[in-house]
Amino acid sequence: MDVIQPVAWSADGCGVRILDQRALPEREVYLDLRTVDDVCDAIKTLAVRGAPAIGIAGAMGMTLALDGTERVPQEVSLKIASAHASIAGTRPTAVNLRWAIDQVQRVGMAARADAVMTRDVMRGEATRILEEDRAMCRRIGEHGAALIPDGARILTHCNAGALATGGMGTALAAIYVAVEQGKHVEVYADETRPLLQGSRLTAWELKRAGIPVTVLIDSAAASLMRDGEIDLCIVGADRIARNGDVANKIGTYSVAIAAKHHRIPFYVAAPTSTFDSQTSAGAEILIEQRSPDEIRHSFGARIAPANVNIYNPAFDVTPAELISAIVSDQCVHCPPYAFDAMS
Ligand code: MRU
Repeated sequence: MDVIQPVAWSADGCGVRILDQRALPEREVYLDLRTVDDVCDAIKTLAVRGAPAIGIAGAMGMTLALDGTERVPQEVSLKIASAHASIAGTRPTAVNLRWAIDQVQRVGMAARADAVMTRDVMRGEATRILEEDRAMCRRIGEHGAALIPDGARILTHCNAGALATGGMGTALAAIYVAVEQGKHVEVYADETRPLLQGSRLTAWELKRAGIPVTVLIDSAAASLMRDGEIDLCIVGADRIARNGDVANKIGTYSVAIAAKHHRIPFYVAAPTSTFDSQTSAGAEILIEQRSPDEIRHSFGARIAPANVNIYNPAFDVTPAELISAIVSDQCVHCPPYAFDAMS
């Protein structure tokens, strides 16, 4: 499979190259991010998005804190800490971001070398995080494919594909590997209001891979299940609590409730970096609230009164009891969940 690379080093080695996901599916535009501020802006505006991909972009972005002119170790440490604080502040829900930048900060602070060598060490760590994610995606795909029968009609929400990771994705990796194994599948992609990651991104990457995909509005998913048209649901995750509660794109909870009602398996797929050993249950997860303008405006027009109140959480929490199994790079975890030792 020709894997999309949403985050990479720039060709000249002096920046982070991202595929600007705001322009998809109309245009394939690549941006070279040159500063920590560029990286923060790209993460906040979802030019790069998806829990593992923002972790990788954040990790690479940390290296842009040092330009080699820093003269004393204190200056190096201050710049690393400041980049860490700025990147950590961009999006709060996906634990992968914090996980990845913590690791790059740790090796940078421990390097005790001049700025150029410290930057090289941080760069090596960021590259390792990218490569590790690629390998984890593959293993998630292999474990997840075992849950997909030949002929399956699969519903997914948001985008948990190659665009959201350093490899072949998480939820979509299971589908890609099932197809590699010769299974025939049909995917239903929830449009995913308000930013349309399902219709703009999931449909784009599945079509590119030659996998049959149908886009539906989010509110059509329950009736499609009632009509017997869905065999299983599989989604990604932004954070998984120790008890198996899962934060993922807003609307995931509704899909899980509808799946439970219709006795359809509801699976979550995520790498080890998404499991948060510091969070015991979903209620502790901070849910990002996004700008009201994402709801007030659409397709270049105002679609709600200018001063109306808006509720725009980016994510919701699906309780563990609605999840049939959680697929990680390690194995398929079955309920009851207890993830004390994952990361
Ligand atoms: O706001 P987004 O587009 O970053 O949200 C992405 C999701 O909710 C994905 O399902 C999740 O990050 C898993 S990506 C492998």
